[in-house]
Amino acid sequence: MSRTVRDQILSALAGIADPERGRDVVASGRISGVAVEDGVARIMVETTPERAGATEPLRRAVEAAAASVRGVKRASAVLTAERGPAQRPPAAPTSAAPGPAAGRPRPAAPTLPGVKAVIAVASGKGGVGKSTLAVNLALALQARGLKVGLLDADVYGPSIPRMLGLSGRPDSPDGKRITPKVGWGLKAMSIGLMVEEDTPLIWRGPMVQGALDQFLRETDWAPLDILVLDMPPGTGDVQLSIAQRVPLAGAVIVSTPQDIALLDARKGLAMFRRVEVPILGLVENMSWFTCPHCGGRSDIFGHGGARDEALKLGLPFLGAVPLDLEVRIMSDEGRPVVAVAPDSEAAAPYHAIAAGVVDSIAKAHREPPRIMIED
Ligand SMILES: Nc1ncnc2c1ncn2[C@@H]1O[C@H](COP(=O)(O)OP(=O)(O)O)[C@@H](O)[C@H]1O
Ligand SMILES: [Mg+2]
Repeated sequence: MSRTVRDQILSALAGIADPERGRDVVASGRISGVAVEDGVARIMVETTPERAGATEPLRRAVEAAAASVRGVKRASAVLTAERGPAQRPPAAPTSAAPGPAAGRPRPAAPTLPGVKAVIAVASGKGGVGKSTLAVNLALALQARGLKVGLLDADVYGPSIPRMLGLSGRPDSPDGKRITPKVGWGLKAMSIGLMVEEDTPLIWRGPMVQGALDQFLRETDWAPLDILVLDMPPGTGDVQLSIAQRVPLAGAVIVSTPQDIALLDARKGLAMFRRVEVPILGLVENMSWFTCPHCGGRSDIFGHGGARDEALKLGLPFLGAVPLDLEVRIMSDEGRPVVAVAPDSEAAAPYHAIAAGVVDSIAKAHREPPRIMIED
């Protein structure tokens, strides 16, 4: 059903000239993906960061042409940057994988060769310290002798390059595979390494998926024991689709004490449960504040909310991390505390959380695998 609509969209797009490349937009390889789901068409239009503004009229024409196809209720076309250091081979419009169709069994997300486990660090909202936790957790796992990678899946607000002190585009010796950057021993990949921070690209759903699939599958991660995914904040559709597309061994949920009620842990949990991803546990960040002058401890946000919530929900509580000025300064300078001062008091909670995560992964996967059926 959606196939025929998709073909009609491609025919409609073949009527649009590509002035820059001299053919129609399909023949010129400009369209890098078309997906149709429930009458909603999503089309990816390739450009370069420098030409994004100039390609905007073309994007609008593509969107209008797709919207005029019968059976299309809504069409959205987004600009995507040319992939990696290499050029995308021309015309692969079949490459956009449509989302899973409702009512059919969903195949398990393909595993990543040479990567033993992928875990997600997720949060109900932004600014709760998700990336800080992802970085320091990855480093603490590494300190346990594991080979660890860190994938910045927060394509809207990538912060892993800054937190690991990385910059510059990753190499691609063969023009196809991407060699991850290495920061403090961690293999790392982020959209922030591929485009300038203020690039006026429109990162929306389809692009998020395209970029992530690419980073996940075309980066030379192997061999890794654990790949840590810094998820975009929230537990909505974008997060759901990542959880569906990545073979997750589990998710760590992070929250601040004052946001724990807002986190709507149940909703977040329900999302991961829908895709059969075990919740490895809850982490409370900015849990209390220790005064650097007098050493006094203040529960400024009412510490302990996450522990209670975890208990109520029957989830492991992985630990609490205090609000620590040093942690903030160091992570914003690309000097994560677990790498720079592994034996410090500030690093201790991360080591404890890493131990809990390793335990939780082992427990979650001792149960027999279940067959996944979409409801
Ligand atoms: N435990 C902490 N103590 C002090 N500052 C923190 C702590 N955790 C995070 N931060 C700071 O809070 C800000 C937001 O954290 P970040 O990890 O970027 O959150 P998110 O990824 O959830 O948006 C950053 O400036 C970070 O350095
Ligand atoms: Mg972040």
